[in-house]
Order: sequence, then structure tokens, then C-alpha cells
Amino acid sequence: MSQPLVLKNIEGPVAILRLNRPQVLNALNLALMDELVDQLKALQDDDSVRAIILTGNEKAFAAGADIDEMADVSLAEIKMKNQFLVWDIIPRFTKPLIAAVQGYALGGGCELAMSCDMIIASENAVFGQPEINLGVMPGAGGTQRLTKALGKARAMEYLLTGKPLPARVAYECGLVTKLVPDELVMQEALSLAHEIAQKSPVAVTLIKEAVYKALDTPTQVGMDFERNAFYMCFGTEDRVEGMKAFQEKRTPQFKGR
Ligand code: HXC
Repeated sequence: MSQPLVLKNIEGPVAILRLNRPQVLNALNLALMDELVDQLKALQDDDSVRAIILTGNEKAFAAGADIDEMADVSLAEIKMKNQFLVWDIIPRFTKPLIAAVQGYALGGGCELAMSCDMIIASENAVFGQPEINLGVMPGAGGTQRLTKALGKARAMEYLLTGKPLPARVAYECGLVTKLVPDELVMQEALSLAHEIAQKSPVAVTLIKEAVYKALDTPTQVGMDFERNAFYMCFGTEDRVEGMKAFQEKRTPQFKGR
């Protein structure tokens, strides 16, 4: 059996992970999600890696959770399995995670893309939460993240009808960072990842955490977090290097310390 997830390569500081179940449009089974989290943990521990791209293939980023795997599962089994434990970790990884999306990003595939820090999408990508058509609902953040991006009225329509959310709409509502022609998706994701990989990794991680605070907490709580995170930057060598490089009119070399 081929690997459900492939560490395609590490291009300098950027690692590329590819979902690899093309025969089922990269449907996300439990083994694939476990493997994804294991790979992300390994990349987090690898100091040479500073940004990660998660992608699929031209036809699908992922067409959802694996319906065949779920079809006969009982309530007790799904509750006790607690499969979302691994999903919840994804936005908590310290390194920036960019989804490069072509084709379908449906159901769990849409939720996985939305769990990443940024999404670069092809103009032909199709997002959406079609779970309603299976008699269920999103379970990995679809109702929450889509509502935060689209607003209640429009999220309700997409969630209650299950209709596809075209990439252009996803871009216009701020769910997608950048929309590009099919053939440029990976190039654009790599360019963004390499740019961020040149920054101070500690500052990058703290900014990520602060942005998630903005989504999840009242403003003053987020502001307090931001202030303390700002102070924390003053404990890093990268802060000294960044400010010194500015004064010496040269490009800073950030070491992640
Ligand atoms: C299992 C899937 C699958 C899925 C596609 N396949 N999506 N298998 N789980 N989610 C399989 C098909 O059965 C088929 O296998 C092969 O992939 C190709 O798919 P086709 O349907 O033949 O392709 P196409 O006609 O191009 O249609 C593409 C599609 C359609 C519109 C994306 O496949 C589709 O509607 N898929 C299901 C989308 C969905 O409902 N996702 C939500 C899942 S629930 P064979 O063997 O026939 O070739 C979910 C819950 C999330 O995600 C909860 C949190 C994790």
C-alpha cells in the first residue's frame, strides 16, 4: 500500500507534505490524519525547517473525511475514538503551515485547509461543507471557521445547503490568502513560505499565536497576550540581530534564538 502522506521534499527551510490517496480524492482516513500529525511533529522538531506547505494534487486537496471508513461507525465508537484530538493540534504547531489547494477541498478537506495558517488556492479550487448531504455536519471546525470568515448569513447558506464555495468567493471573504492560476499554486506557496522562513522563527510563532488569540478571545485579552509576546521578543538574539542589521543597513540573519 502506498503512503497516505508523503514528505515530498525539504527545499532549504521549507518542507512540503503531500496528501497521497489519489484514488479517493485524498479522502482523509484516520491513518492519514495520524500520519499528518506525526510528520508535523517531526518537522516542528527539525530546526532546519521554518515553514511547511501542505498540498494534495491537481484534482483534490482533499474531498473530505473518508466516507467508507465512517459509514458503519456507531455513536459510541466515534465518541470514544475522539479522532479530533489530532485535528485540534494542527493550528498549534509553532511553524507556519500553508495549504496549497487545487481542486476539491470539501468537508474535512475544507476544514483541514482552514486549520492551516494560510491558504494559497487555484482559481479552480472548490471549497465547501457538504456534510449536510450525508445527514451529518462538519466536525473539525467547519461551522466555526466558515462562520468567522463569511459571517452568519452566508455561512448558514453554505452549511445548510452543502453547496460548493467557489475559490473566488473564499478569496473575497478572506478565507484564502491568494488566488492564482492552477499552474502557479505551488510556486506561489513556495515563494510565501520562503519569504516567511527568512524571518525570526520566535517572532513568527508569537505572531501566529497572537493572531489566533484575536479570533478566540475578547480584544483586551488578545492585547494583553500581544504585549507580553512583544516583551518576549526582547529575550531573543534575533531581536538584537534584527535591530542591529537595520542600523548597519544590511539584511538580518535570524537564527531562531
Ligand atoms: C471516500 C471518496 C470521497 C470521500 C471521493 N471519494 N470522495 N471516498 N470518502 N470523502 C471516492 C469516490 O467514491 C470515488 O471512488 C473516487 O473517490 C472518485 O470520486 P468521484 O465521485 O467518482 O469523482 P467526481 O465524480 O469527480 O466527484 C468528485 C466529488 C465527489 C464531487 C468530490 O467525489 C464527492 O461528492 N465526494 C464526497 C464529498 C463529501 O461529501 N465530503 C464530505 C465527507 S464528510 P470510486 O471507487 O468510485 O472510484 C466529512 C466530515 C468531516 O468530511 C468531519 C471532520 C473530519
